[in-house]
Amino acid sequence: MKLKSLDIGRLSTKNNLFLAPLAGFTDYAFRSICYEMGAGLCFTEMVSAKGLLYNSEKTKDLLFTTPSDYIKAVQLFGSEPDIMEVVCKSEDLKDFDIIDINMGCPVPKVFNNGEGCKLMETPVLAGKLVSSAVKSGKEVTVKMRLGIERGKDLAVELAKAAEDNGAKLITVHGRYREDYYSGEIDFDKIAEVVSAVKIPVIANGGIFTKQDADLCMEKTGAAGVMLARGALNRPWLFSEISGRTVKDKKSVIKRHIDLLLQKYPDKYVAINMRKQMALYLAGLKDAKKYKIKAFEATTTKELKAIINELNL
Ligand SMILES: Cc1cc2nc3c(=O)[nH]c(=O)nc-3n(C[C@H](O)[C@H](O)[C@H](O)COP(=O)(O)O)c2cc1C
Repeated sequence: MKLKSLDIGRLSTKNNLFLAPLAGFTDYAFRSICYEMGAGLCFTEMVSAKGLLYNSEKTKDLLFTTPSDYIKAVQLFGSEPDIMEVVCKSEDLKDFDIIDINMGCPVPKVFNNGEGCKLMETPVLAGKLVSSAVKSGKEVTVKMRLGIERGKDLAVELAKAAEDNGAKLITVHGRYREDYYSGEIDFDKIAEVVSAVKIPVIANGGIFTKQDADLCMEKTGAAGVMLARGALNRPWLFSEISGRTVKDKKSVIKRHIDLLLQKYPDKYVAINMRKQMALYLAGLKDAKKYKIKAFEATTTKELKAIINELNL
Protein backbone atom coordinates (compact mmCIF):
# COMPACT_ATOMS: atom_id res chain seq x y z
CA MET A 1 0.00 0.00 0.00
CA LYS A 2 1.07 3.55 -0.60
CA LEU A 3 1.68 5.37 2.65
CA LYS A 4 0.38 8.90 2.85
CA SER A 5 -0.47 11.47 5.47
CA LEU A 6 -4.13 11.76 6.40
CA ASP A 7 -6.00 14.84 7.52
CA ILE A 8 -8.26 14.35 10.52
CA GLY A 9 -9.87 17.77 10.80
CA ARG A 10 -7.02 20.17 11.49
CA LEU A 11 -4.54 17.37 12.33
CA SER A 12 -2.29 15.56 9.88
CA THR A 13 -1.02 12.06 10.61
CA LYS A 14 2.45 10.80 9.65
CA ASN A 15 0.85 8.07 7.57
CA ASN A 16 -2.33 6.06 7.04
CA LEU A 17 -1.28 2.92 8.91
CA PHE A 18 -3.03 2.98 12.29
CA LEU A 19 -2.91 0.89 15.47
CA ALA A 20 -6.34 -0.17 16.75
CA PRO A 21 -7.59 0.38 20.27
CA LEU A 22 -7.01 -2.97 22.02
CA ALA A 23 -8.26 -3.39 25.60
CA GLY A 24 -5.48 -4.58 27.89
CA PHE A 25 -2.74 -3.94 25.34
CA THR A 26 -2.48 -0.52 23.71
CA ASP A 27 -0.93 1.33 26.63
CA TYR A 28 1.75 4.02 26.27
CA ALA A 29 4.53 1.42 25.99
CA PHE A 30 2.96 -0.64 23.22
CA ARG A 31 1.94 2.51 21.36
CA SER A 32 5.54 3.78 21.55
CA ILE A 33 6.78 0.51 20.10
CA CYS A 34 4.26 0.73 17.27
CA TYR A 35 5.21 4.34 16.51
CA GLU A 36 8.86 3.31 16.41
CA MET A 37 7.92 0.52 13.99
CA GLY A 38 6.21 3.04 11.70
CA ALA A 39 2.58 3.44 12.79
CA GLY A 40 0.97 6.71 11.75
CA LEU A 41 -1.58 6.94 14.56
CA CYS A 42 -2.18 4.86 17.69
CA PHE A 43 -5.24 4.86 19.94
CA THR A 44 -5.56 4.12 23.65
CA GLU A 45 -7.70 1.16 24.56
CA MET A 46 -11.38 1.88 25.13
CA VAL A 47 -11.93 4.00 28.23
CA SER A 48 -15.26 4.28 30.03
CA ALA A 49 -16.68 7.81 29.86
CA LYS A 50 -18.60 7.08 33.08
CA GLY A 51 -15.44 5.75 34.74
CA LEU A 52 -13.79 9.11 34.05
CA LEU A 53 -16.84 11.00 35.27
CA TYR A 54 -16.72 9.06 38.55
CA ASN A 55 -12.99 9.69 38.92
CA SER A 56 -11.92 6.06 38.81
CA GLU A 57 -8.13 6.05 39.23
CA LYS A 58 -7.83 2.76 37.35
CA THR A 59 -9.68 4.27 34.41
CA LYS A 60 -7.55 7.43 34.52
CA ASP A 61 -4.37 5.38 34.35
CA LEU A 62 -5.41 4.30 30.85
CA LEU A 63 -4.97 7.93 29.78
CA PHE A 64 -1.22 8.01 30.45
CA THR A 65 0.66 9.24 27.38
CA THR A 66 4.24 10.11 26.45
CA PRO A 67 5.70 12.46 23.82
CA SER A 68 5.82 9.57 21.35
CA ASP A 69 2.04 10.02 21.16
CA TYR A 70 2.64 12.99 18.84
CA ILE A 71 -1.11 13.07 18.26
CA LYS A 72 -2.94 11.94 21.37
CA ALA A 73 -5.96 9.81 20.53
CA VAL A 74 -8.23 8.33 23.18
CA GLN A 75 -11.09 5.94 22.56
CA LEU A 76 -14.13 6.41 24.79
CA PHE A 77 -17.18 4.24 25.22
CA GLY A 78 -20.48 5.47 26.56
CA SER A 79 -24.04 6.11 25.50
CA GLU A 80 -25.04 9.32 27.25
CA PRO A 81 -24.45 12.53 25.27
CA ASP A 82 -24.38 14.74 28.40
CA ILE A 83 -21.71 12.61 30.02
CA MET A 84 -19.76 12.48 26.76
CA GLU A 85 -19.73 16.28 26.58
CA VAL A 86 -18.64 16.76 30.19
CA VAL A 87 -15.90 14.14 29.94
CA CYS A 88 -14.56 15.40 26.60
CA LYS A 89 -14.31 18.92 28.02
CA SER A 90 -12.77 17.72 31.29
CA GLU A 91 -9.26 18.27 32.63
CA ASP A 92 -8.61 14.53 32.29
CA LEU A 93 -8.71 14.78 28.50
CA LYS A 94 -7.12 18.20 28.15
CA ASP A 95 -4.02 16.82 26.42
CA PHE A 96 -5.92 14.70 23.91
CA ASP A 97 -6.33 15.82 20.29
CA ILE A 98 -8.67 13.08 19.10
CA ILE A 99 -11.68 11.44 20.73
CA ASP A 100 -12.67 8.19 19.07
CA ILE A 101 -16.10 6.90 20.06
CA ASN A 102 -16.46 3.12 20.28
CA MET A 103 -19.48 1.91 18.31
CA GLY A 104 -18.16 -1.56 17.60
CA CYS A 105 -17.54 -3.38 20.87
CA PRO A 106 -19.52 -6.65 20.81
CA VAL A 107 -19.10 -7.85 24.42
CA PRO A 108 -22.41 -8.32 26.30
CA LYS A 109 -21.37 -6.16 29.26
CA VAL A 110 -20.97 -3.18 26.93
CA PHE A 111 -23.61 -4.05 24.33
CA ASN A 112 -26.38 -4.73 26.88
CA ASN A 113 -25.61 -1.37 28.44
CA GLY A 114 -26.52 0.37 25.17
CA GLU A 115 -22.85 1.09 24.39
CA GLY A 116 -20.35 -0.09 21.78
CA CYS A 117 -21.95 -1.92 18.85
CA LYS A 118 -25.46 -1.40 20.24
CA LEU A 119 -25.21 2.24 19.11
CA MET A 120 -25.30 1.05 15.51
CA GLU A 121 -29.05 0.48 15.97
CA THR A 122 -29.63 4.03 17.13
CA PRO A 123 -27.94 6.38 14.63
CA VAL A 124 -29.73 9.44 16.03
CA LEU A 125 -28.32 8.81 19.51
CA ALA A 126 -24.94 7.94 17.97
CA GLY A 127 -24.99 11.28 16.13
CA LYS A 128 -25.77 13.09 19.38
CA LEU A 129 -22.80 11.42 21.05
CA VAL A 130 -20.59 12.69 18.24
CA SER A 131 -21.94 16.25 18.37
CA SER A 132 -21.57 16.28 22.16
CA ALA A 133 -17.94 15.24 21.88
CA VAL A 134 -17.32 17.80 19.10
CA LYS A 135 -18.29 20.59 21.54
CA SER A 136 -14.95 20.00 23.27
CA GLY A 137 -13.15 21.43 20.23
CA LYS A 138 -11.27 18.16 19.73
CA GLU A 139 -11.36 16.13 16.54
CA VAL A 140 -13.90 13.32 16.86
CA THR A 141 -13.73 9.97 15.09
CA VAL A 142 -15.89 6.84 15.25
CA LYS A 143 -15.01 3.15 15.11
CA MET A 144 -17.80 0.80 14.08
CA ARG A 145 -18.59 -2.59 12.58
CA LEU A 146 -20.78 -3.46 9.57
CA GLY A 147 -23.76 -4.08 11.80
CA ILE A 148 -25.02 -6.46 14.42
CA GLU A 149 -26.22 -9.36 12.31
CA ARG A 150 -25.46 -10.42 8.76
CA GLY A 151 -28.19 -9.33 6.36
CA LYS A 152 -28.83 -6.10 8.26
CA ASP A 153 -26.21 -3.57 7.30
CA LEU A 154 -26.04 -0.52 9.51
CA ALA A 155 -22.64 1.01 8.75
CA VAL A 156 -23.60 3.37 5.90
CA GLU A 157 -26.38 5.03 7.88
CA LEU A 158 -24.25 5.29 11.00
CA ALA A 159 -21.29 6.68 9.07
CA LYS A 160 -23.49 9.37 7.53
CA ALA A 161 -24.93 10.26 10.95
CA ALA A 162 -21.40 10.52 12.35
CA GLU A 163 -20.24 12.71 9.47
CA ASP A 164 -23.31 14.96 9.67
CA ASN A 165 -22.62 15.50 13.35
CA GLY A 166 -19.00 16.49 12.89
CA ALA A 167 -16.92 13.28 12.89
CA LYS A 168 -13.69 13.73 10.94
CA LEU A 169 -12.80 10.06 10.30
CA ILE A 170 -14.46 6.69 10.51
CA THR A 171 -12.95 3.27 11.02
CA VAL A 172 -14.94 0.28 9.84
CA HIS A 173 -14.17 -3.18 11.19
CA GLY A 174 -15.47 -5.30 8.31
CA ARG A 175 -17.33 -7.83 10.43
CA TYR A 176 -20.68 -8.00 12.25
CA ARG A 177 -21.21 -8.27 15.97
CA GLU A 178 -22.23 -11.91 15.54
CA ASP A 179 -18.77 -12.61 14.05
CA TYR A 180 -16.93 -11.19 17.04
CA TYR A 181 -13.34 -11.45 15.74
CA SER A 182 -13.50 -14.37 13.34
CA GLY A 183 -14.39 -14.84 9.70
CA GLU A 184 -13.63 -13.07 6.45
CA ILE A 185 -13.62 -9.31 6.13
CA ASP A 186 -16.33 -8.01 3.81
CA PHE A 187 -14.37 -5.59 1.64
CA ASP A 188 -17.42 -4.65 -0.46
CA LYS A 189 -19.35 -3.49 2.58
CA ILE A 190 -16.44 -1.36 3.74
CA ALA A 191 -16.26 0.08 0.19
CA GLU A 192 -19.94 1.07 0.48
CA VAL A 193 -19.10 3.19 3.51
CA VAL A 194 -16.11 4.71 1.70
CA SER A 195 -18.46 5.85 -1.11
CA ALA A 196 -21.15 7.09 1.25
CA VAL A 197 -19.13 9.73 3.12
CA LYS A 198 -16.62 12.45 2.28
CA ILE A 199 -14.47 12.04 5.39
CA PRO A 200 -11.64 9.47 5.36
CA VAL A 201 -12.59 5.86 6.10
CA ILE A 202 -10.07 3.45 7.59
CA ALA A 203 -10.52 -0.27 6.97
CA ASN A 204 -9.93 -2.70 9.81
CA GLY A 205 -9.93 -6.45 10.25
CA GLY A 206 -7.86 -9.47 9.34
CA ILE A 207 -4.61 -7.73 8.41
CA PHE A 208 -1.70 -9.98 9.35
CA THR A 209 0.70 -9.43 6.42
CA LYS A 210 1.77 -6.73 3.96
CA GLN A 211 -0.24 -8.56 1.30
CA ASP A 212 -3.37 -8.39 3.48
CA ALA A 213 -2.90 -4.62 3.81
CA ASP A 214 -2.39 -4.17 0.06
CA LEU A 215 -5.45 -6.28 -0.76
CA CYS A 216 -7.61 -4.46 1.78
CA MET A 217 -6.64 -1.05 0.37
CA GLU A 218 -7.25 -2.20 -3.19
CA LYS A 219 -10.62 -3.83 -2.51
CA THR A 220 -12.08 -1.20 -0.19
CA GLY A 221 -10.67 2.04 -1.58
CA ALA A 222 -10.18 3.07 2.04
CA ALA A 223 -7.93 5.96 3.02
CA GLY A 224 -5.84 3.70 5.23
CA VAL A 225 -5.82 0.55 7.32
CA MET A 226 -5.86 -0.19 11.03
CA LEU A 227 -3.90 -3.13 12.43
CA ALA A 228 -5.14 -4.95 15.53
CA ARG A 229 -4.20 -8.56 16.34
CA GLY A 230 -1.63 -8.58 13.54
CA ALA A 231 0.30 -5.88 15.40
CA LEU A 232 -0.18 -7.46 18.83
CA ASN A 233 1.85 -10.51 17.84
CA ARG A 234 4.20 -8.70 15.50
CA PRO A 235 4.46 -4.92 15.96
CA TRP A 236 7.16 -4.99 13.26
CA LEU A 237 4.28 -5.58 10.83
CA PHE A 238 4.11 -1.77 10.62
CA SER A 239 7.68 -1.75 9.28
CA GLU A 240 7.01 -4.61 6.89
CA ILE A 241 4.00 -2.83 5.42
CA SER A 242 6.13 0.32 5.13
CA GLY A 243 8.65 -1.72 3.11
CA ARG A 244 11.31 -1.99 5.81
CA THR A 245 12.60 -5.07 7.62
CA VAL A 246 13.33 -5.18 11.33
CA LYS A 247 16.34 -7.41 11.82
CA ASP A 248 16.60 -7.33 15.60
CA LYS A 249 13.12 -8.25 16.80
CA LYS A 250 14.40 -9.36 20.20
CA SER A 251 15.48 -5.77 20.88
CA VAL A 252 11.96 -4.59 20.11
CA ILE A 253 10.51 -6.89 22.79
CA LYS A 254 13.21 -5.90 25.28
CA ARG A 255 12.52 -2.25 24.56
CA HIS A 256 8.84 -2.89 25.27
CA ILE A 257 9.90 -4.09 28.73
CA ASP A 258 12.18 -1.08 29.25
CA LEU A 259 9.40 1.33 28.35
CA LEU A 260 7.13 -0.27 30.96
CA LEU A 261 9.94 -0.05 33.52
CA GLN A 262 9.94 3.73 33.09
CA LYS A 263 6.59 3.79 34.92
CA TYR A 264 6.12 0.55 36.83
CA PRO A 265 8.16 -1.58 39.30
CA ASP A 266 10.13 -4.54 37.99
CA LYS A 267 7.91 -7.32 39.37
CA TYR A 268 4.75 -5.66 38.10
CA VAL A 269 6.27 -5.39 34.61
CA ALA A 270 7.44 -9.03 34.62
CA ILE A 271 3.95 -10.22 35.50
CA ASN A 272 2.13 -7.73 33.29
CA MET A 273 4.25 -8.75 30.29
CA ARG A 274 3.09 -12.37 30.48
CA LYS A 275 0.02 -11.92 28.29
CA GLN A 276 2.08 -9.96 25.78
CA MET A 277 4.88 -12.55 25.85
CA ALA A 278 2.33 -15.24 24.97
CA LEU A 279 1.48 -13.23 21.86
CA TYR A 280 5.10 -12.54 20.91
CA LEU A 281 5.83 -16.26 21.26
CA ALA A 282 2.83 -17.49 19.26
CA GLY A 283 3.91 -19.50 16.25
CA LEU A 284 7.59 -19.65 17.24
CA LYS A 285 9.55 -22.88 17.56
CA ASP A 286 9.29 -24.26 21.12
CA ALA A 287 6.68 -21.60 21.95
CA LYS A 288 5.10 -23.75 24.66
CA LYS A 289 8.38 -24.29 26.48
CA TYR A 290 9.21 -20.58 26.42
CA LYS A 291 5.69 -19.62 27.45
CA ILE A 292 5.95 -21.77 30.58
CA LYS A 293 9.29 -20.13 31.39
CA ALA A 294 7.92 -16.64 30.76
CA PHE A 295 4.92 -17.29 32.98
CA GLU A 296 7.21 -18.42 35.80
CA ALA A 297 9.48 -15.37 35.55
CA THR A 298 9.07 -12.76 38.26
CA THR A 299 11.81 -10.36 37.17
CA THR A 300 12.39 -8.60 33.88
CA LYS A 301 15.99 -9.89 33.91
CA GLU A 302 14.63 -13.44 33.66
CA LEU A 303 12.25 -12.38 30.90
CA LYS A 304 15.04 -10.78 28.91
CA ALA A 305 17.14 -13.92 29.26
CA ILE A 306 14.24 -15.91 27.77
CA ILE A 307 13.92 -13.40 24.93
CA ASN A 308 17.64 -13.78 24.16
CA GLU A 309 17.11 -17.52 23.67
CA LEU A 310 14.31 -17.07 21.11
CA ASN A 311 14.66 -18.00 17.51
CA LEU A 312 13.22 -14.74 16.19
C1 LIG B 1 -7.96 -8.28 22.82
C2 LIG B 1 -8.76 -7.31 22.00
C3 LIG B 1 -9.12 -6.10 22.55
C4 LIG B 1 -9.86 -5.17 21.80
N1 LIG B 1 -10.18 -3.96 22.36
C5 LIG B 1 -10.82 -3.03 21.61
C6 LIG B 1 -11.08 -1.73 22.12
O1 LIG B 1 -10.72 -1.38 23.25
N2 LIG B 1 -11.74 -0.85 21.31
C7 LIG B 1 -12.13 -1.18 20.02
O2 LIG B 1 -12.71 -0.35 19.31
N3 LIG B 1 -11.90 -2.40 19.52
C8 LIG B 1 -11.24 -3.31 20.27
N4 LIG B 1 -10.93 -4.52 19.73
C9 LIG B 1 -11.21 -4.77 18.30
C10 LIG B 1 -10.00 -4.38 17.44
O3 LIG B 1 -9.70 -3.01 17.57
C11 LIG B 1 -10.24 -4.71 15.96
O4 LIG B 1 -11.35 -3.99 15.51
C12 LIG B 1 -10.50 -6.21 15.74
O5 LIG B 1 -9.58 -7.00 16.47
C13 LIG B 1 -10.44 -6.56 14.27
O6 LIG B 1 -9.16 -6.40 13.73
P1 LIG B 1 -8.17 -7.67 13.50
O7 LIG B 1 -8.97 -8.72 12.77
O8 LIG B 1 -7.05 -7.10 12.68
O9 LIG B 1 -7.74 -8.13 14.84
C14 LIG B 1 -10.24 -5.49 20.47
C15 LIG B 1 -9.88 -6.72 19.93
C16 LIG B 1 -9.15 -7.63 20.67
C17 LIG B 1 -8.76 -8.94 20.03
